[in-house]
Amino acid sequence: MSFLIERLHARQVLDSRGDPTVEVEVTLEGGARASAMVPAGASTGRHEACELRDGPGGGYGGRSVMRAVGHVNTELARALAGADAREQAALDRRMIELDGTPNKSRLGANAILGVSMAVARAAAAGLGVPLWNYLAGSRAARLPLPMINIISGGLHAGRNLEFQDFLVEPHGFPTCAAALEAAVRIHRKTGETLRAARYALTGVADEGGFGPRMKSNRAALDLLTRAIEAAGFESRRQVSIAIDVASSHFYRDGLYRLASEGRELTASGMGEMLAEWIDRYPVVSVEDPLAEDDWDGWREITARLGSGCRLVGDDLFATNIKRLERGIREGVANAVLVKMNQIGTLTETFEVIDRAREAGYAAVISARSGETEDSFLADLAVASGAGHIKVGSVTRSERLSKYNRLLAIEDEPAAPPWEQ
Ligand code: PGA
Ligand code: ZN
Repeated sequence: MSFLIERLHARQVLDSRGDPTVEVEVTLEGGARASAMVPAGASTGRHEACELRDGPGGGYGGRSVMRAVGHVNTELARALAGADAREQAALDRRMIELDGTPNKSRLGANAILGVSMAVARAAAAGLGVPLWNYLAGSRAARLPLPMINIISGGLHAGRNLEFQDFLVEPHGFPTCAAALEAAVRIHRKTGETLRAARYALTGVADEGGFGPRMKSNRAALDLLTRAIEAAGFESRRQVSIAIDVASSHFYRDGLYRLASEGRELTASGMGEMLAEWIDRYPVVSVEDPLAEDDWDGWREITARLGSGCRLVGDDLFATNIKRLERGIREGVANAVLVKMNQIGTLTETFEVIDRAREAGYAAVISARSGETEDSFLADLAVASGAGHIKVGSVTRSERLSKYNRLLAIEDEPAAPPWEQ
């Protein structure tokens, strides 16, 4: 079996919002073939790698990605022809060098990541092993605990609420399948509770959750806590709550502007409000409680809440090792959100996950709000042993493709353990 790359081919396809994205196909000389699709965010951070779009004059109102596709089909295809697909780190390094910019803005992180993912999948196919197994290498693989979106807000649901995600963590269950079943029951019960309270439920939010126009973030927390219990689960012991505040989008001039709560808060004020909510509701994880460059505020909030709660940096770290190193040095956050397309290669993604674990930080492998049917993320979460995965709700197939992949992995004869 030859693992040398014979052909790289990219095309433009559509993601779950009907936006163009990149798909890359790799063929190895030995005949193995694989493809991968790249996701896209909406509440993107300022420090993410550059997603190359064609801009004015391009298709789809400038959202098309034909330049990124072209870079795969010309420069990257030429540079990687004949390279060994098993040499992931060398291939990724070669693409980074070829791009030559600090944020992959010349070739596009969407072009580079598509190749990075497809090459790994082709190598696994050539070896005849599951992707998670191939990606794990010497790491201890394990099935991750899903964090499931039930109520959405922010930029994913027409700004109905300021906070972006209200999620459940079903941790008190014997298998990943049982945890997912619990989440589905809570999702249904939340729908019934919202309908009974006469909220209009038309359509679903970008990640498949409900997007009701509720009167406050606190009201959403309150309702979700009630739904967990109404679904027959004991909150805290079996099911807890995670929130993604995604605060960068309502932070202006030093203040967090929470119109629905009728408050404009400083970073300390946010800490105080969240401390009260963590105490009152079964909240175990808070993502981006403060804005992406509010390092002073983050240090303070970590000192205040970090011992009793997972504090996850998404826009803050942007899956960037330099930003994570700064966080570790300065005692900022205690967990990192990992999104492959924030950084643009598989090798750099693993570097962040491995460093986080070494420093005692948790890692949450995350989808984007714009996803595809590609389930790569599920294998990545299992392979890295990260412990947590966050891919959205239990509706919409771009979300379910990841959950269904976890169910398939759990069903394999040599399935990795589910240890929570
Ligand atoms: P995004 O949202 O993909 O729109 O950035 C996901 C998140 O904030 O976790
Ligand atoms: Zn986030």
